[in-house]
Amino acid sequence: MNYKTVGYALLLSLSATACSNKLNVSKVLADAEQQTKVMLAEIPKAKASRSAVTTGATPGSAGADLVSPRTLDTMGRLRLVTSRDWTSGFFPGVLWFLNEGTGKNEWKTEAESYTSYIEKEKTNGTTHDMGFKVYCSFGTGYRLTNDQHYKDVIIQSAKTLSTRFKPSVGTLRSWDHSRDKWGFPVIIDNMMNLELLFEATRLTGDSSFHKIAVSHANTTMKHHFRDDYSSYHVVDYDTITGVPKHKHTHQGYSHSSAWSRGQAWALYGYTMCYRFTKDPAYLRQAEGVAKFILNHPNLPKDLVPYWDFNAPNIPNEPRDASAAALNASALYELGLYSSNGKYYKQTADKILQSLTKSYRSPIGENKGWLLLHSTGSKPSNSEVDVPLSYADYYYLEALLRSKKLKEGKQLW
Ligand code: GLY
Repeated sequence: MNYKTVGYALLLSLSATACSNKLNVSKVLADAEQQTKVMLAEIPKAKASRSAVTTGATPGSAGADLVSPRTLDTMGRLRLVTSRDWTSGFFPGVLWFLNEGTGKNEWKTEAESYTSYIEKEKTNGTTHDMGFKVYCSFGTGYRLTNDQHYKDVIIQSAKTLSTRFKPSVGTLRSWDHSRDKWGFPVIIDNMMNLELLFEATRLTGDSSFHKIAVSHANTTMKHHFRDDYSSYHVVDYDTITGVPKHKHTHQGYSHSSAWSRGQAWALYGYTMCYRFTKDPAYLRQAEGVAKFILNHPNLPKDLVPYWDFNAPNIPNEPRDASAAALNASALYELGLYSSNGKYYKQTADKILQSLTKSYRSPIGENKGWLLLHSTGSKPSNSEVDVPLSYADYYYLEALLRSKKLKEGKQLW
């Protein structure tokens, strides 16, 4: 089913969703276990066949340095990535979530293996994606195991990430590529990497990480947002004056549009910043972003956004289930802090129901991915209407958050 026909199927299922019972989290988790077993069997096959499309794999390595699944390619083959790829930490995180949700040791064993493949990234200072890679894997593992080695990896990773902070700008640098185009690019996605820094201060008592995270969040709040709380994707700063030179998009429809996953990174990012700082400005920011997303006339009734809120051919545009999964997870947390908490929680429940009912892969298909219908980068026609590892990660995180809230437990 492609994205043009998905709309009709969704309409049909929507009425069912509206009257369906509450989500059966145990059943959804059991389904996720089955699918992930399929994935675990597919990974070695994809490595061995070398038919996997590789991202930066060493030529001739026969897939040895491919460590994590990222998506399906256009031929439906499993695409694996090396630890350097920004998505490498999500699959280990999925394995940790299965361990957390089921209590089964077999998932811990798998999670430990896949997490270990990411460790060498702790000294890779060429990217801002440290949080995605190390926090989703080692960070989730540390929360569940208290393993002291994991703690050391988190702290080293925070030290490495901190080297990308530029005091004259007040932010971490996002990308090193496209130097002909941008001087000091910062993308809204970078808000997600602050969790690693906040946590490193909590673990060490060294406030320098926390200060960098706060500076990045404040500078981004000042320059990345429009009056309606929608966010630009890329802000390019002058490194001497710290003044923004360009406000661009990279994965969205246009410089002035609202790329859906970017809005989701912002919602999640400022909610998480409030958790660590209790600064009311971050709470207001998260609430403003939530209002933009949830009141947008182009948000479909099933609450799974098109890839960009201003995509030109809505409703004939692909969805982005990864943005919906992120929104659900963030709204569960925002619901704990906001006077609008009940509404945010109910909305998160609806998003989860919608994803579960209409966006999951049938068991045994799609190489073991959980969710279908995400979009990586529509402008470059890359990963359009496909499964993505981060959609699965935030979907499971949201599912576990809903379970913990029901059981009266803390979210982390
Ligand atoms: N951080 C890259 C993306 O959201 O696609």
